[in-house]
Formats: sequence, C-alpha cells, structure tokens
Amino acid sequence: MEKRIPLFIANWKMNKTSKDILSFVGVFKELVKGMTHSCEIVLAPAAVYLAELISVTQNTLIKVAAQNCGGSKSGAFTGEVSPLMLRDLQVAWVILGHSERRHIFKEDDSLVNLKLKAALEEDLTPVFCVGEKLEERKAKNTFAVIERQLEGLKSFSESQLRSLVIAYEPVWAIGTGENASPEQAQEVHSFIRKWLSNNISPTFANRTRILYGGSVKADNSTALMVMVDVDGLLVGGASLDPLSFSEIVRQGLNS
Ligand code: PGA
Repeated sequence: MEKRIPLFIANWKMNKTSKDILSFVGVFKELVKGMTHSCEIVLAPAAVYLAELISVTQNTLIKVAAQNCGGSKSGAFTGEVSPLMLRDLQVAWVILGHSERRHIFKEDDSLVNLKLKAALEEDLTPVFCVGEKLEERKAKNTFAVIERQLEGLKSFSESQLRSLVIAYEPVWAIGTGENASPEQAQEVHSFIRKWLSNNISPTFANRTRILYGGSVKADNSTALMVMVDVDGLLVGGASLDPLSFSEIVRQGLNS
C-alpha cells in the first residue's frame, strides 16, 4: 500500500493581519522544524496576505494555501481571485467548498465543481471539502449528502485529479467545540475512500489523502489520526495559535 504522508492544514479564515502572521510564523517555524520531514504542513491565510506568507515561509518546508478561488482564469467577477493569480503568486494549494463558502456564501455543488476545474487547470492542489449538516445527519442522510458533493469528481480523469485532497468536515462540528468522534470520522472517511475506489480507481483511492476537520484540538488529534482512513487534519480555531497548532501536529504524528 502506498504511504499517505500526514497532512495538517491551518485554516485561519478571516483572522490575522500582517503583524499577527509574522509573529505566528516566527514562533511556529521553530516549533515544527523537526516535524516537517515526516508530514506536510500548510497555512491558509486571507487572500491579501498570501504573498507575504509565501515570502516569510521561504526556506522552510511550510506550504501556503488560499481559502478559496474563482471559477475561471480572469474576467468580470468583482471580488474574486483567480487560480491563475494564485499560481502567479506561487501559491500551490487551495481550499474549495469549505462549509462556510457553501452555507454562508451559498456556493452550490456546480459552482464548487467549476472552481475545482479552474484550480486543476492551473495545477493547484485542491483541498475539496465535503460534510453534512446536523439535520442531515439526524435524518440519516450523511452518506447521500457526501455522495452528492463528490459526484462532480466523476467529470475529471484520474490524472487530472492526481493532487486532490479531500477534507471531511461535518458542518455541525465546525467551530462548535463538538468534534466528530474518531469512529464517526472513520466511518465517513472509509465511505469516501470506497466511493473513490468505485468511481475513480482503487489505486487513486489508496493514495488520496482524506483529512478530518471540525473542532480539532491537541487533545483529540492523536485519537483522530489513529483511524486508518484519517490522513490529516484541517484545523480552524485551534490553528490560530502557533503552540496549539504545532501541538496538534506533534500529537497527530504520535498516532
Ligand atoms: P474549527 O474549523 O477547527 O474551528 O472547527 C475547522 C474548519 O472550518 O476548517
């Protein structure tokens, strides 16, 4: 079985200005120095700070992601940042379909898929987020929702999708302090891997990383990462502090 390198992503959302980012990186890069050879660590700041973060993480193994991108190279899309622009800034990663984009900004599956297509055309590594709302879980629709969100992947070839990362983020666990139990996460991750195996290929399913996100903290990181199909963590609130995020990585690698 191909080894999946553990991946830890900090999603800073609409937090941190330039000064905060500089002080975070100053502390964080020392804390994770010994860990970056055994995992990948990615920081996702607000779009206006991407260039600055790229510059202050140069000469480290820390990578940088955008939190969103537009669905085409250029054009009349006020307020959007295109994948071509991200590529131009040397940003190699982009989070797509985050639940806040889907639910607050009303991005539907077809828009998320359009963004995915545009990101793949620029050779960005997409972190494609899926996850059910609380009422969908209660109605036992979790798998149906995830399946619907994954459906768009069928329109790409395996080689187009080669860098894809999937993040399972149950909406009810995001920013609520209530994380999915490791068993709940594993159940959905294994469903996603099976879906990838049936709809893309078994090899692809075997090497694609599936991250868990939703109220991840240092004290649940090991238990989540122990699960066979949890290959990494996408962290919001607890990634804002360098000590807390580095501890999540350290504990996650201890699994
Ligand atoms: P949280 O956010 O860790 O604050 O729950 C996770 C996310 O939204 O990616």
